Amino acid sequence: MALFITFEGGEGSGKSSAIKKITKYFEEHNIPFIISREPGGTPIGEQIRNVILANNNNEMDITTEALLFAASRRQHLVEKIWPNLKNNINVICDRYLDSSLAYQGYARGLGIDTVLEINQYATENTFPDLTFFFDVDVEIGLDRINQNHEREVNRLDLEKRTFHEKVRKGYQELSKRYPNRYVVIDAKMPLDDVVNKCLEILKERIK
Ligand code: TYD
Repeated sequence: MALFITFEGGEGSGKSSAIKKITKYFEEHNIPFIISREPGGTPIGEQIRNVILANNNNEMDITTEALLFAASRRQHLVEKIWPNLKNNINVICDRYLDSSLAYQGYARGLGIDTVLEINQYATENTFPDLTFFFDVDVEIGLDRINQNHEREVNRLDLEKRTFHEKVRKGYQELSKRYPNRYVVIDAKMPLDDVVNKCLEILKERIK
């Protein structure tokens, strides 16, 4: 059966670089997969993404923000995630529901349970099979994004350090709430070690 695999973590946790290498392994071993990201993943989702992340949308209400993320997610499920899983194609996603729980639920303060409720409705209770949480000191993460000049800086990147500390705490709490699907990766390790750790677990699960 195909797996729904998500990658989560704070800014500069190295998710995107690790995902590139992991998908290369899938390609080389002819493991069927699609790769996607949130917010976005579909043309409608990308339009919603632009509204959420625009640097001039500072007056956005927090609940509006959470609902927009959930709306983008729903479209992503309908157009991409559900059809691929149904066709037995593994779905790898850079961020999904846990981002909303950590960012809007915990860090913004809406509450994990409130944001979970919105998302249970939007996703019809579709949870990932496996979630890699790339855990790294906020300081290290922010240093990494400051050095990566090619990366676009969005509205959420511009939040203060304490916000990013809360995001990390939120994920740590989620890893305790969902021990069966969560795998905590020590993301301060060199990229190759991080990738190998993920592949070790994936090889066990994808048979
Ligand atoms: P992106 O540039 O994709 O960030 P990254 O490279 O860190 O994955 O921007 C997505 C931003 O949106 C990121 O700061 C996390 C945030 N986010 C939420 O706050 N809630 C969500 O539900 C999702 C999917 C993302």
